[in-house]
Amino acid sequence: MPTIAVLAGDGIGPEIIAEAKKVLVALEERFDLDLTLTEALVGGVAYDETGHPLPPATLELCKQSDAILLGAVGGPKYDAIEPADLRPERGALLPLRKHLELFANLRPATLSPALASSSPLRADIVEGGLDVLVVRELTGGLYFGQPKSNDGERAVDTCVYTKPEIVRIARIAFEAARKRGKKLCSVDKANVLETSRLWRTVVHEVAKEYPDVDVSDMLVDNCAMQLVRNPRQFDVIVTENLFGDVLSDEASMLCGSLGMLPSASLGTRQTAFGTFGLYEPCHGSAPDIAGQGIANPLATILSAAMLLRYSLGAEDAALAIESAVASVLDSGLRTADIAVTGETPVGTAEMGDAVVAALESDGESLARD
Ligand SMILES: NC(=O)c1ccc[n+]([C@@H]2O[C@H](COP(=O)([O-])OP(=O)(O)OC[C@H]3O[C@@H](n4cnc5c(N)ncnc54)[C@H](O)[C@@H]3O)[C@@H](O)[C@H]2O)c1
Repeated sequence: MPTIAVLAGDGIGPEIIAEAKKVLVALEERFDLDLTLTEALVGGVAYDETGHPLPPATLELCKQSDAILLGAVGGPKYDAIEPADLRPERGALLPLRKHLELFANLRPATLSPALASSSPLRADIVEGGLDVLVVRELTGGLYFGQPKSNDGERAVDTCVYTKPEIVRIARIAFEAARKRGKKLCSVDKANVLETSRLWRTVVHEVAKEYPDVDVSDMLVDNCAMQLVRNPRQFDVIVTENLFGDVLSDEASMLCGSLGMLPSASLGTRQTAFGTFGLYEPCHGSAPDIAGQGIANPLATILSAAMLLRYSLGAEDAALAIESAVASVLDSGLRTADIAVTGETPVGTAEMGDAVVAALESDGESLARD
């Protein structure tokens, strides 16, 4: 029986997580999932209640679970907590990733044809939609390398990558490409950086294990440009921590709203069902709209689909969610963040209910066929 730790967190977290839970529950019988969902405190609410944004009980639950579904943490109320290590992002999210060794961040930037008008790109560039997966290395590179220093006159950051770190993220990316369009673009700065030269060599060594995947290299400056010039040339992009941070945000904005973008952070731990991982929307706790029932729950619902795919090996259930979301968008339903002038937006719960209804009608029509 797969166990999922559900951490709603702060701001809109509880509102969007409630909708993702509805969707998971609606799928259980049809796909024989037999899920156990257990809620725990994280972020500012956890700090308020226990004095720590990542209470030991929450960390323990996460370690014992097959996957984690997270809403969002943080908000203005918690920005000034001292010491800073008790603030929600620094005290909960980063340690969670570190303790659980979640080194691979997967961010699919998907724009359904129905939402083309929400993208800042020209209609002819996004016509037919977009589907790019950015795989970012999350625990190495410039963000973690030592030494680091800043004496006010001179500052140092160090970029370090080891071969095993590159091998493991490359394998995640090749595996993902194998399940999609079988094209992998490895992004680096090999014309300047030693770490990029090692990166490129190792990615090509790993490529020999995946002869069915077409692999190419691209310099990061060119990739930033190509993403807006012709994003449809990409299937999966794999890159190191800093480049991935920038490129995944760029790719995500091509899709119009942060409220549409899911993510998965994966490690090496294998459970009885798949790869252990943490799944969350790319956006934050949106304190400006929290409590109003107007947040877009689709990024969280799509994160639940990623959870089913990567951590539970339930590809059919993941596809069912993605297809239900696409059909709801095709029907014209919009939350405020993706509505254009003249469209009347629906609320968070209505959007979640519509996805559940689409899943149910899809299930009924399959049963009839
Ligand atoms: N992983 C996380 O938990 C995470 C990530 C980023 C930011 N944060 C935290 O969230 C808080 C707010 O940060 P921010 O305002 O910079 O970023 P944010 O992503 O929360 O919000 C940015 C803008 O996007 C809108 N938005 C975000 N999600 C939306 C949704 N689902 N539907 C509709 N609109 C949505 C918000 O209303 C806001 O206008 C901060 O405390 C920040 O530290 C947490």
